[in-house]
Amino acid sequence: MFAVPENSVVLPENSALLHPVRVALSWATDRDRWKHLLRYDPEERFSALVDKTDDQEIWLMSWLPGQTASLHDHDHTSGAFTVVSGLLTEVVTTKIQVVHSLHAGQSRVWGPGYVHQVRNDGVDPAVSIHVYRHGTRAMTPYRYDPVNGPVR
Ligand SMILES: [Fe+2]
Repeated sequence: MFAVPENSVVLPENSALLHPVRVALSWATDRDRWKHLLRYDPEERFSALVDKTDDQEIWLMSWLPGQTASLHDHDHTSGAFTVVSGLLTEVVTTKIQVVHSLHAGQSRVWGPGYVHQVRNDGVDPAVSIHVYRHGTRAMTPYRYDPVNGPVR
């Protein structure tokens, strides 16, 4: 243990320095900050920008049963997403495809070169919070080739 001098300055917490999962979890549990933005779009997965700084963007997404984000990467960004409610399925694609079933409170992270698909295979709507670091929410589409893996 050590003593903190009385004249120590406490710097405000910079959320861009926190692990993106920690940021996503924080936003996921603070519904008052985004509940007014939440919509369910029967035509496509709904997304809304919740917060933006020089270092990161926070997005809210809703997924009706069957809605999907097709196979894609996020260019040079890194980040994380957390399921707020419902169930989401993430398919991570390299030469093989690995399926992750995610329920409320579970998170996944990504970085450059990470190719995945996310979809709602459940019977209820799902909500998720996504943190994008060092860039925007731009997505590059891929298709899956069983021999070569993800192909642009
Ligand atoms: Fe993604």
